[in-house]
Amino acid sequence: MATTTRSHASNGTPSGNGSKSSTRRSPEPRLGQRGKELQRFGTLRQLPIALSAEARTESCQLLNEVLADTTILYALYKKHHWNVAGPTFYQLHLLFDKHAEEQAELVDLLAERVQSLGGIAVGDPRHAAELTTIERAPDGAEDVPAQITRLLRAHETIIGKVRDGIETTEKSKDWGSNDLLMGDVLRRHELQVWFIAEHLVDVPLVED
Ligand SMILES: [Fe+2]
Repeated sequence: MATTTRSHASNGTPSGNGSKSSTRRSPEPRLGQRGKELQRFGTLRQLPIALSAEARTESCQLLNEVLADTTILYALYKKHHWNVAGPTFYQLHLLFDKHAEEQAELVDLLAERVQSLGGIAVGDPRHAAELTTIERAPDGAEDVPAQITRLLRAHETIIGKVRDGIETTEKSKDWGSNDLLMGDVLRRHELQVWFIAEHLVDVPLVED
């Protein structure tokens, strides 16, 4: 019954509501800290999801490839959103931004899937640029047909990898990744392709 706190026992006086360590706390931010890397890219942590390390490693690799491309496609949509010009400016300006937002959502879904598998998601856009196979656009502005054609090529690059990934994850029974790739990524890309490809159809605004 006669319990005393450590601070009481040590010096006989109460130290407020904290322990000995609280007296060392400081309101000052501890700036300039540099910790060591906790987990290296390409390695796997053990998470109890009843899926082999081999399957998780394979999925992380393919998901990171799609993630890197998606990061680049997101940036490409924003670039076109800013640079689009001509009579269809307003609708394409809005459409490109909508697609960019949807690609940003896919970036998050893909990245968090990699983390859920115990891997490390590609985060830095410079890392994504190293991994992507999407052709780099010129730093300047292109006309609308070139913009859309470039976007369609980027979509198809990703769709090809996604289709392969669906097959791979079906074989390895990584159903979580399989569902993500089929239900979220593939269908979103196919829909976006349809929406932008329609702008390449040569239909006159007014008939002769
Ligand atoms: Fe904007």
